[in-house]
Amino acid sequence: MKTDPCTYVIFGATGNLAHIKLIPALYHLDIENRLDDGTKIIAIGRRPWDNEKWISEVRLMLEAKARGGVDEKVFQRFIGRLQYHKGDLKQAECYSSLAVLLSDTEQFPQNIAFYLAINPEDFSPVIERLSVPNLLEEKHFWRRVVIEKPFGTDLESSRSLQKRISKHLREEQIYRIDHYLGKGMVQNVLVFRFANAMLEPLWNRNYIDHIQITHSEQLGVGTRGGYYDHTGAMRDMLQSHLLQLLTLVAMEPPVSMNAEDLRDEKVKVLKSIRPIPEEAVHAQSFRAQYSQGRINGEDVDSYLQEEGIPENSVTETYAAMKLYIDNWRWRGVPIYLRTGKRMEKTQSSISICFRHAPSQLFKNTQAEKINQNWLLLGIQPEECIRMEMTVKEPGLEMKTRLSNLDASFRNENEQPSDAYEDLLLDVIEGDRSLFLRYDEVEYAWKIVDPILNKWAVERDYIETYPAGSWGPNERRLFDKESQHWRNTLQAEKK
Ligand code: BG6
Repeated sequence: MKTDPCTYVIFGATGNLAHIKLIPALYHLDIENRLDDGTKIIAIGRRPWDNEKWISEVRLMLEAKARGGVDEKVFQRFIGRLQYHKGDLKQAECYSSLAVLLSDTEQFPQNIAFYLAINPEDFSPVIERLSVPNLLEEKHFWRRVVIEKPFGTDLESSRSLQKRISKHLREEQIYRIDHYLGKGMVQNVLVFRFANAMLEPLWNRNYIDHIQITHSEQLGVGTRGGYYDHTGAMRDMLQSHLLQLLTLVAMEPPVSMNAEDLRDEKVKVLKSIRPIPEEAVHAQSFRAQYSQGRINGEDVDSYLQEEGIPENSVTETYAAMKLYIDNWRWRGVPIYLRTGKRMEKTQSSISICFRHAPSQLFKNTQAEKINQNWLLLGIQPEECIRMEMTVKEPGLEMKTRLSNLDASFRNENEQPSDAYEDLLLDVIEGDRSLFLRYDEVEYAWKIVDPILNKWAVERDYIETYPAGSWGPNERRLFDKESQHWRNTLQAEKK
């Protein structure tokens, strides 16, 4: 099904995000026939390029990123949509000339989505400048602005950003993106929970011992040192993507899948998270930085040796925290979140550990107490919904072993789409359910601000972990001896 004709205007089109995600995602939407024939894509960049040069750059991007390579027929159609607009987003001239370009209504559909793939400091100035030639005003057509993360760097700055942009935009025009919500498996969390009634009786404090959400990466900070050193793992991943995952795991069933109903329920989760007082910050959070190590058999540098990192930096590349949701469903169930760069494996997962059976009637083959059940939701790279069950070992003795119930949801020939494809399409379709409402952002900052404030003053020391490990060897977050980080989606080795 095709969408409304629209013009996508990408600020920061020559940057990394546009190269690796946005342009390939729009191309894939074209392959899928989801773009109207009239849809156009204007790339704004400072480089002195013309259309021809831009098209040759786009070809390179697609050769590197398009699934199954570049299809010449679709490529010819796709390049017919492209326009390069040279301009400096800090200069008024960029916007007046853009307005002139867009006023060619024969060429450019007047439903316009502005995508800000730019430095966060520029979000509000660009919106202010777009409003000068009235580019944000909706008369007979829609005007939408997509804002990348981070939305502010703490509660105060996010409030001030919100105040400034809402002078020019209604909330309905703002699409705050968290690309995790576009991932197929993340959306599957909702389907799994709310389309399978058998789970509901178990999904609460009576049966669940604790919940873990992990995002680990083998990659280091690469060329993003300048951004990362001011940001750190807590702001980069945990405040945004991991708290969003938590809302989906913990929310009550929404009245409908409509954007407001869904986001109301997510906000309720964030609002119910017990605030962390200053004196509990140490007990409920942990940070560390990677030192030299080995990944896949190769030596890798420490964080401090990476390009653009000051030699005395105490920025965390690993952040973990424990939270409690003080509501009827979850009171008393610890939730552990962690994220790290240069870890042993690249993996995003949600692991739910169930309570022990009330009495231990059986032993496993090692004559040990049998395991608790785990429900493992693999988000990437392995996508899975897997329940670990205990079954009887064949043979004469009453011994047990683990077996998996796997819910497969994709045939091998069904390719997953990229998160950005779903989200860019939602922008054209005006579906905001997978975008953040401002109150979600605000509550998320309220949760992590006490930790960030404490870390900001404790700047003389940071723990380290060797690159290629599962992070620092710390246990202080765990409530019970039996709890530990679940690092694998396969059966755990003791
Ligand atoms: C981004 C962070 O938002 O998410 C990066 O800024 C991180 O530091 C990335 O690597 C992870 O996203 P994905 O989709 O690769 O898991």
